[in-house]
Amino acid sequence: MDLPSPVRASRRSNVDPFRAMDVMAEANRMKAAGLPVISLAVGQPSASVPAQALDAARRFMEAGRIGYTDALGRASLRERIARQAVAAYGVALSPERVMVTTGSSAGFNLAFLAAFDEGDRVAIATPGYPAYRNILRALGLVPVDICVDATEGYLLTADRLLAEHRLEPLQGVLIASPANPTGTVTPRAEFERLIRVAEGEGITFISDEIYHGLVFGEPAASALEFTDRAILVNSFSKYYCMTGWRVGWLVLPPELVRVAERLAQSLYISPPELSQVAAEAVMDATAELDAIRDTYDANRRLLEVALPEIGFRDIAPVDGAFYAYAGVPEGKGQATAFARRVLAETHVAITPGTDFDPARGEDFVRLSYAGHPTEIATAVERLRRFLAKP
Ligand SMILES: Cc1ncc(COP(=O)(O)O)c(C=O)c1O
Repeated sequence: MDLPSPVRASRRSNVDPFRAMDVMAEANRMKAAGLPVISLAVGQPSASVPAQALDAARRFMEAGRIGYTDALGRASLRERIARQAVAAYGVALSPERVMVTTGSSAGFNLAFLAAFDEGDRVAIATPGYPAYRNILRALGLVPVDICVDATEGYLLTADRLLAEHRLEPLQGVLIASPANPTGTVTPRAEFERLIRVAEGEGITFISDEIYHGLVFGEPAASALEFTDRAILVNSFSKYYCMTGWRVGWLVLPPELVRVAERLAQSLYISPPELSQVAAEAVMDATAELDAIRDTYDANRRLLEVALPEIGFRDIAPVDGAFYAYAGVPEGKGQATAFARRVLAETHVAITPGTDFDPARGEDFVRLSYAGHPTEIATAVERLRRFLAKP
């Protein structure tokens, strides 16, 4: 007789699926079957990484040996990232505080483990990037949703943070500016206030700056400009077009560097060396990367006009990143079913808002405009025809 299986999934692993990835998988299946699918579902640049990065990687591979690096990353890349802080924000940054990670995703794990204990409460804006909630939960921390909406430009303010902290103390707050899925950029003065309030109350401030460089008005403020006690998370995935290379970085308060290094030694050993070499080279490809950014700007301007015209509502200000977050047009039902119909009938993949906002997400969809402008224009025309039908 078979014994009952001793295998069970842990309680902590019970996190939501990332539905944008599921939509991408379905779109890929349709593409493989020969259908003319345009994906606005996943937040990744359609442009490939600039040639400088590929050339550097090729040269490195020819030398033959790709190995472990220091857990904190290659010294030359840490120095290059520190120099970039001077160029981008006018602040001096010690390379000692820079830690290279396996994408910002690994950076979040390290940052949360380094700074928080089980049961600690960390505030996040909702709608927001779903992995924040999922990683926090899997690590035994408590994500605290602060719901924001179109009437307040989807902005998590210092007042809202303080109100939440007064209800029940918070140990952390995570702000992304620009944000995913809304594209909202937190204005500089509000950003500084958030940091001051957090520090005044003993709340650890985590700044997700992965969409820096993809801002279409005033540049986004960096936590580095105001404090050396915040944890900054960044990545080569978005502006630098290196999603698949899995390389990002943290800037840590000095007292957490050794803590995160010890954790990384055991959790990841080191970030991938080849990717670090390519990442260092891509930091000199500003002209090419800015030209790619300009294509997003054109896409953004197209969507800003077209989306309200064809019926989308409550559109978040399309300020940065490469997303438009919009209410499902009147009478078109709930987002999950709507996105499924749009994919089946127009072959345009969009993401239901349920990934980003468990409570209100069925009223919203996210459209990523990181694709080529002709693709985005075609997608808009398909949506226009679909929505014109009764
Ligand atoms: C806001 C935000 N942070 C972090 C990430 C994770 O990116 P990566 O692990 O590729 O650096 C994403 C990916 O979409 C994101 O949107």
